[in-house]
Amino acid sequence: MTAMEVEALLNGLSRLPDVQADNLHAFDATDRLLLQTAADLLGPDTNVAVIGDRYGALTLGALAGLGVGQVRVNQDLFTGRLALRRNAASAGLEGRFTEHQLDRELLHDAGLVLLQLPKSLAELDEIADAVARFAAPHAVLLAGGRVKHMSLGMNAVLERYFSSVQPQLARQKSRVIVSRDPKEAPAELPFPVVESLPELGITVCAHGAAFSGARLDIGTRYLLTFMDRMPAARQAVDLGCGTGILATMYALGNPDARVVATDQSAAAVASAKATAAANGLEGRVEVIHDDAMSTFDSGSAELILLNPPFHLGASVHAGAALKLFQAAARVLAPGGELWTVYNSHLQYRAALERHIGPTVEEGRNPKFTVTRSRKI
Ligand SMILES: C[S@@+](CC[C@H](N)C(=O)[O-])C[C@H]1O[C@@H](n2cnc3c(N)ncnc32)[C@H](O)[C@@H]1O
Repeated sequence: MTAMEVEALLNGLSRLPDVQADNLHAFDATDRLLLQTAADLLGPDTNVAVIGDRYGALTLGALAGLGVGQVRVNQDLFTGRLALRRNAASAGLEGRFTEHQLDRELLHDAGLVLLQLPKSLAELDEIADAVARFAAPHAVLLAGGRVKHMSLGMNAVLERYFSSVQPQLARQKSRVIVSRDPKEAPAELPFPVVESLPELGITVCAHGAAFSGARLDIGTRYLLTFMDRMPAARQAVDLGCGTGILATMYALGNPDARVVATDQSAAAVASAKATAAANGLEGRVEVIHDDAMSTFDSGSAELILLNPPFHLGASVHAGAALKLFQAAARVLAPGGELWTVYNSHLQYRAALERHIGPTVEEGRNPKFTVTRSRKI
């Protein structure tokens, strides 16, 4: 493909099925800079792995623009995986990449790894460990991000795993950090982190990308204080489960309930599975990787618990929460309840009324509001 054709491919990428909006894009200057930097480092036989591709720009850009024959890909988000498949099909590049967990299969023999830097240092830590542990000894990791979202802490994390860490000059407000010479990895995998939460009497397991790590979020803590007012449901869902604390607590308090925990993040799903198992709930809490319960039957849940996200990627965007309210409206059975906790300034009540049904405020503290919405 010519440079113009690659540019046309990038411009034609779609975010679907992720939330779409004018200020949200399917690729950014970091993708372009990572691809340009990679072009100088590729040999004819270099194996390429891509981590954190948002909607396929890195994978498809490497295949179409850099002449790479086959790419191994790891994406945390369910929506990102669907978007990559969809964009690959439109570009006629399906079958040219394979999807993997963050593991040896993804990285073995990889000489070049392209990474869109994640938001959290813990997520970067888990990725850097995997690259240093599993990739080829001569592997080069190109980690790119928007300058405003990058911190010196990222360099420090990379320096724990690589002997050479060199931030490059910024271009169009993006920067690439080049890491080489992987250090010897510690014998034990650093993730998932396992912590006991004495205040709840449970153990929590967290992979790097899981919301709030192995700690209890203060919004979640507040929602949990309403547990004994919630109905005893036969089918309950922890929507956007993160490490699965809500699912675990509900399953422990309601031994007859079938509890499903679901999240768009693979790291959250792996964490929630590990948390359920650590609390003796294997087989009692089912954990599903999905986008907004897209694979759930309509009218199948009597209760949904939700501490909604308020970020889409790096931007604060109400669309992420609204999407989950709409999903809850579809999946709740008539008479079923959605219990939500949110920052009081967000004023979600009108949207909950509109999408689900009658909504009452069950409680409010200086920071958070908890509502119960009844599906009519
Ligand atoms: C504020 S966190 C709450 C995590 C967990 N329930 C807790 O209380 O600690 C929101 C979670 O929603 C997930 N999420 C965001 N959008 C989602 C979507 N469209 N489908 C499924 N999960 C989603 C995020 O990955 C994140 O784990």
